[in-house]
This record gives sequence, C-alpha cells and structure tokens, in this order.
Amino acid sequence: MKLRPFLMERWQSVYEHQVACNLSESGVHPMSLRELLAINDGTVETRLERLLDTDLGYSQGNGSIELRERIAAIYPGAELDSVLVTHGGAEANFLATLRLLESGDEVVIMLPNYMQIHGLVPTWGGSITPWNLVEKNGWEADLGELERLVTDKTKLILITNPNNPTGRCFDSPFLDRLTAIAGKVGAWVLADEIYRGAEVDGNETPSVWGRYERVLVTSGLSKAYGLPGLRAGWVVSPDIDFINTLWSYHDYSSICSSPLTMALAAFALEPKNRSVILERTRGIIRGNLPIIDNWASRRPDRFSYRPPDAGAILYLRYHHAIGSTELAEKIRTEEGTLVVPGDHFGMESFLRLGFGSNEIELRDALQRVEKVLDGLSPQ
Ligand SMILES: Cc1ncc(COP(=O)(O)O)c(C=O)c1O
Repeated sequence: MKLRPFLMERWQSVYEHQVACNLSESGVHPMSLRELLAINDGTVETRLERLLDTDLGYSQGNGSIELRERIAAIYPGAELDSVLVTHGGAEANFLATLRLLESGDEVVIMLPNYMQIHGLVPTWGGSITPWNLVEKNGWEADLGELERLVTDKTKLILITNPNNPTGRCFDSPFLDRLTAIAGKVGAWVLADEIYRGAEVDGNETPSVWGRYERVLVTSGLSKAYGLPGLRAGWVVSPDIDFINTLWSYHDYSSICSSPLTMALAAFALEPKNRSVILERTRGIIRGNLPIIDNWASRRPDRFSYRPPDAGAILYLRYHHAIGSTELAEKIRTEEGTLVVPGDHFGMESFLRLGFGSNEIELRDALQRVEKVLDGLSPQ
C-alpha cells in the first residue's frame, strides 16, 4: 500500500531544523520542560524529583487513567473510556480514518485543511469531495453547499475547527447544522480541534462534542498548548466500542505513549495549569498578530487576507506572478526562511506564515520574506 507524500510535513521535516528562520510552524514557540514545571509558581526541583521516579516501562496502552480523566473533563459527559490517548494528533487522525474508511466511501473535506486525512483517503480506498471555504466571505463555510455535497455514500465529513491554514473558527449554530446534515445520511463527523484554545479573543471555539452520536474529536497538546514535543494527542467519541477498536489498532501503530508523556500531559491538563498554558499561547498570539498584520496590511497591492480568529498562522494571498512552491523555495534558499506554500494546501498564490515565534525572530523573518518579494514583479 503506497502513500502519497504529505507535502507540508515533508517540507518541514526536511528543512525546519536547517533554516535560520522558521515561519512554517503553526503553533506558538514551544514551552521548555523548565517552563512547564515552573507553572503556577511551582518549584521545578520538587516537580522534577517526582518525575525522576517515573518507571520507564510501557504505560497503559489507551492512556493513563489520570490523563484520560483530565482529557474527558474537557468534554462534558465524556467517560474515561470515551478517550484514547495517541501519539500526537496525527496518530489520532490516522487511526480514526484507518478504522472508518472502506473502498467506495466518500469523504467530504473542508478545504483548505491540514492535508493529512486528504492524503490518506485514497489509500484507504475512499474518494474526496471537496467542500471549499469561501475566501471572498472571509473563509465562510457554506452549509447549503454541504447539503448538496453529501450523499448516501458519505461516510465522513472532516472539519478542522479552528481551521488550519485560515485560522477561521466556526460557531455553535454552524456545528449544530453540520451535525444535522451528517445525521440525515448517517455520516460520521471528524472534527480536528487541535487549535481550540488558541483564540485571539480568548473565547474558546465550541467543540462538536455532545451534538451527535457519530462524532470523533481529535486533538492534542501540540498547538494550543505549545507542547508538540510531548507527542500527546487523543481521540474522543461517545461511541465507546469505536474507541476500543481504535485502541486495538493502536496496538499495531505505537502500543502506548511514553510514561513521561503521560505524566507531563496530565500535569499540563490539570485545570489550573491548563488555563495558564492556554493564556500563554493566546498572549503570544495577541502580541505577534499586530506585528504580522501591520507588516502585511502596509501592502494591499501585495497581499489580501483575513486575520485569523485562532492559531499563530496567517494565510496570505499574494499578488505576484510566481507559483507558491517556487516562491517558498526562493525564500528558503535566498533568505534561509521557511514558509508554507499554498500548493501544500492544494491552492495557488498563497503563503502560510506562522507567527508564533519570539518577536525579534518574527520581525527578522518578515524582513527576509519582504526582501524576496521586493525582487519580484507584481502580477
Ligand atoms: C489540524 C492539525 N491536526 C493535526 C496536526 C498534527 O498534530 P501533532 O503534532 O499533535 O501530531 C497538525 C499539525 O500541524 C494540524 O495542523
């Protein structure tokens, strides 16, 4: 079974540790272990001492009880067994679609999107029905169109909320209508909510959880929590049999997460720690968004965009006559700066710029991007 290359992840895997400036990351500057352990005025040494006694054995395959309790607490009414802990959000998406999709299934995918499931669907024998966000309406999702796109063969509707790469958030009435549309044909809804909690205005994006019985929420600590190196993700569903089957698939993919991950993820999700971590993320986003917004808005001839509701990502349409991969290559090779080309989301004339790094690095990186753009002729 062959997989198509996952263009964005390949690009990041190969180059992100080689460039001077990395604007390809969609999360905020990660927390250090020290920063995490010092949270809420804790004594790092005491907390570290406790961690040093962690047995480095196999952990509970579906996630430690403590961690699953903390994850379940985020989703009102969820039980311990509604949760499977995975190796990042990526494994959660991988297992969920591996279990769900069979030959001939149709999958409606909100686009643009994180292209992991988009890349997997053909391998699992399914076909993709694109559901395009409407750029001229601020990346609105047209539910009337969704109604026309779903058929009796629709097995799954995939959304990412908050959306990557647009940073657009979708509200409760939207989610209610979406699940009602899915319910008419019995389709599953997979909502990748990994950016939930990273909202600019601090109002948490509503979850699809609790609106429908065929719901899978995937998420993790990599984006809104700034802890991607923990590789802590999860799937939550009201269908406990489904979660149990995913657990049995997880026996094949990674068996279990590291006990250190379990301990640190549970610590991060202690309610008072969780709120401080999310506030840190929102603080970085609120601090840096005006910098990138001022930079981009000075040149309406060059860019058009809608600032994100959530996430440290700005999705820019640029008005230069150059393909996005060629442009991103130029920015990388001439200025040592990594950006994500729109091509990686199946779209031309876009760049995704991550703005979650520290302010000095961000300003430096934006100047480098500008230098390359200044050398191009307008469209
Ligand atoms: C929407 C979305 N889901 C999942 C992932 C992967 O998350 P993780 O690093 O936790 O595997 C990403 C990473 O960019 C993402 O943007």
